Amino acid sequence: MDLTAPRGHGSVAIRLVKQRDARVLQSELLANRGWLRPWEATSPDGPVSFDMRVGVRRLLQQYRDGVGVPFVMEYDGEIAGQLNVWGVARGSLASATIGYWVSERFAGRGITPTAVALATDICFTEMRLHRMEICIRPENRASLRVVEKLGFRYEGLRRRFIHIDGDWRDHYAFALVREDVPEGVLQRWVSGRAPQHAATVPPADRLHA
Ligand SMILES: CC(C)(COP(=O)(O)OP(=O)(O)OC[C@H]1O[C@@H](n2cnc3c(N)ncnc32)[C@H](O)[C@@H]1OP(=O)(O)O)[C@@H](O)C(=O)NCCC(=O)NCCS
Repeated sequence: MDLTAPRGHGSVAIRLVKQRDARVLQSELLANRGWLRPWEATSPDGPVSFDMRVGVRRLLQQYRDGVGVPFVMEYDGEIAGQLNVWGVARGSLASATIGYWVSERFAGRGITPTAVALATDICFTEMRLHRMEICIRPENRASLRVVEKLGFRYEGLRRRFIHIDGDWRDHYAFALVREDVPEGVLQRWVSGRAPQHAATVPPADRLHA
């Protein structure tokens, strides 16, 4: 399984992050502070140092340990953002979670749904995982569109679930299992077969809508 070579569809590709991406990622993260802050994971123990050389090193160590797969998303060969597969559990669970961001100037081009579809297909086929989850704050309309487009299934409200932008925040959880997508997530989406309402949040769980 060589994830260093880009896997793509149209102008969008994903590949494993490299140590030498740290400088570009750091400058993108800094230039997009206001855009990313409301959705960014923070530490409940207080501010931590922000050095992407250390960040990328840690992500690659997690990859070597088999607990994560840190991708960058590229648009026409330019780094547009990150897609991180984290919390890989093996054995009877065989699951993982996906997180992502793009720089503001790349928003709205379908980069993230394409990258999530590519990454989910890699996880189901090459990594032999069974379930992929994405957790999203109820306020994050743009991110909710990503799971809606791909037909991820709504699975529930998780109260004060992840520490984001300085506090514990409620999240909606969405997931797919391998049997949901025998043809693959990308193929199902591009051929117009992603279910339209799988990600719909039932009224009882709707917060801040
Ligand atoms: C959420 C995010 C990753 C979506 O990525 P993307 O590559 O823009 O995805 P899409 O192109 O499919 O756009 C998704 C939605 O974003 C919204 N959008 C489009 N252009 C936008 C822009 N310039 N600014 C803000 N939102 C925009 C639209 O509602 C769009 O849905 P539509 O295609 O039905 O109109 C991106 O908005 C982002 O990085 N946001 C900040 C970080 C974040 O929220 N991460 C996810 C945490 S769960």
